[in-house]
Amino acid sequence: MTPVSKDNFGDSKAGQAVSWREGCVVLLDQTALPKQEIFIDCKSTESLIEAIKKLRVRGAPSIGLAGAYGVVLAALEVQEETENKRAEAFDLKLKALQASRPTAVNLSWAVKKLKQVADSWTGYFNLELVEKLLVEAKRIHQENLKYNTQLAILGADLLTEGPVLTVCNTGAIATGGVGTALGIVAKAYELRKVSHVFACETRPLLQGIRLTTWELQKKGIPYTLICDNMAAAVMRKEKIGAVITGADRIAANGDVANKIGTYNLAILAKAHSIPFYVAAPSSTFDLSLAFGDEIPLEERADEEILSVLGENRPSYSIPVWNPSFDLTPQSLISAIICERGVINQPNRERIKEVLTGNQL
Ligand code: MRU
Repeated sequence: MTPVSKDNFGDSKAGQAVSWREGCVVLLDQTALPKQEIFIDCKSTESLIEAIKKLRVRGAPSIGLAGAYGVVLAALEVQEETENKRAEAFDLKLKALQASRPTAVNLSWAVKKLKQVADSWTGYFNLELVEKLLVEAKRIHQENLKYNTQLAILGADLLTEGPVLTVCNTGAIATGGVGTALGIVAKAYELRKVSHVFACETRPLLQGIRLTTWELQKKGIPYTLICDNMAAAVMRKEKIGAVITGADRIAANGDVANKIGTYNLAILAKAHSIPFYVAAPSSTFDLSLAFGDEIPLEERADEEILSVLGENRPSYSIPVWNPSFDLTPQSLISAIICERGVINQPNRERIKEVLTGNQL
């Protein structure tokens, strides 16, 4: 048997947005898309945290996966400490990892799952434990894949014929599987239910124009790109069958935190009598929060908005508010599609029933 070392922990499938290879977390650098497909090696938790903060890896489930592999990285790193200092150093790294993006609950969910493995370990904090952590991270990866596929089938079943409208990016690169909202769209296209996708560009970081068009193009699904402020006009002009989005965190009552602009779309969908669907795996629910108002909504640098001015930047300073996410109240949501079932008109009871009930 080959002895375990930092360099030979089992590799996961190459070419995925997030994977594990030879002791490092490999990421498809999403900031380089759509022009270039570059894979970067994060060899330290520090470089992984930088990648998460800069959105090189993004999308709640993918951030969760990166976090899970990040815990393995942290456990490897602390091997350099003396045995009695490893657990403490490990906890510090996990805290920094968890704090790197506050809204997407999948990150802290995955870190906690791996921490439980470490906490229940009764042996030395050695490479044997690291191996156990890697097994758990890969299990989460496989689970993501499976849940996405289940979710896609359930969601495609729900959609009626016609074009759909979406925001941000919720495809394979955001999830480690086939995608959430975009996975449903792809499945529904395969079933000839969805004919066309309207993709919002998603200001300010342009996940729609850079990432969703890239994924739709690759899959050969017909689409039209619109600016975010064109959604109402499209709803008025086209027979939009549904608006479908992902989620970064869902509170126990069904309020949804997702990419900024999602709330606008939910209001517009209501005004045009269009169903508004949210697709997310069970790991995106945070039942510890009673209401959406308790979800921390990340605010990001002014520069992300102002950089559009380029050379034309004035000398005066422009005050900016740049929330990365907004909150959509459950009252505006027609259904949440989760791998465990479809939660129609989501409320506390229905969510609990689907997430913990007999349907499991
Ligand atoms: O800031 P981002 O790009 O990480 O935001 C992503 C979203 O808002 C997605 O809709 C959400 O994470 C679901 S991804 C399947």
